[in-house]
Amino acid sequence: MTTQVMYQMIVTKTESEIFYITINRETKLNALNIQTLSDIKNAVLSIYNDTNVRGVIITGAGPKAFAAGADIEEFSQFDVEKGTRLSSEGHAVLKAIEHCPKPVIAAVNGFALGGGNELAMACHFRIAAENAKFGQPEVSLGITPGYAGTQRLAQLIGKGRALELLMTGESINAAEALRLGLVNHVVPADQLISKCEEILNKIKTKSPLAISSVIRCVNAFYEKKVDGNDVEINEFGNFFGSEDFKEGTQAFLNKRPAHFKGN
Ligand code: COA
Repeated sequence: MTTQVMYQMIVTKTESEIFYITINRETKLNALNIQTLSDIKNAVLSIYNDTNVRGVIITGAGPKAFAAGADIEEFSQFDVEKGTRLSSEGHAVLKAIEHCPKPVIAAVNGFALGGGNELAMACHFRIAAENAKFGQPEVSLGITPGYAGTQRLAQLIGKGRALELLMTGESINAAEALRLGLVNHVVPADQLISKCEEILNKIKTKSPLAISSVIRCVNAFYEKKVDGNDVEINEFGNFFGSEDFKEGTQAFLNKRPAHFKGN
């Protein structure tokens, strides 16, 4: 049974094994204040071990914004100590998303600027509505991105392209984001969530064990202290002791669909 938790800045629901997180600050273009970040982290962590959840969609309330960045009003008076703490916590929240053992898709329904783009980039991949806009405008505010934007943007689109976007602070539209590989698909706004659901429904037919392993292996490539190849060898070997592997191979050999249990 899924327990419904009430959050202050987000709305969550679970339907057909998909956990939906909607940032609910439409009048502030879903700007990510500290409470919103904390809510997102708690919501994501709450489904890590929930076998009723097979995937996550993160989106923003309203037609205009996914998230227009960190809350500028909130942090405008911060000192060095508070600023460092904010960045550290932002990193921790986005790491919780990146390391989620279930696929997390950002459904980008409008502005994804600054922290909003960083949030989208921490998700396993991104689907954009045609009206989506992406950018890291922090240099216009006299600051750098603080939630790993300098790291993940370079990983996703390459160093030179990332540096141009980071230094000009310019926004790009969804078509350009697709061309750069920042998003996987661009769809009309009214098909955004259904496109994410369509992909998650495909993933749902696969082994949950294998899906979480894929996430760990790919993430390992970007971890400085581990060798992703070693992680993959270890993960691969462990499957030979799993029920999902037995089921998947037997289903193939017996020409029937597989029914995975995630063990
Ligand atoms: N932090 C705090 N409040 C924000 C915000 C942010 N990052 N982005 C938007 N808002 C608020 C605005 O202050 C405004 O609030 P108000 O109605 O109480 O005055 C409301 O959201 C609507 O924004 P507004 O600027 O009026 O909308 P717009 O359509 O004219 O412009 C943007 C949209 C996204 C271009 C503009 O809001 C913007 O540039 N936001 C900041 C983006 C940014 O620099 N992000 C990085 C932060 S590190």
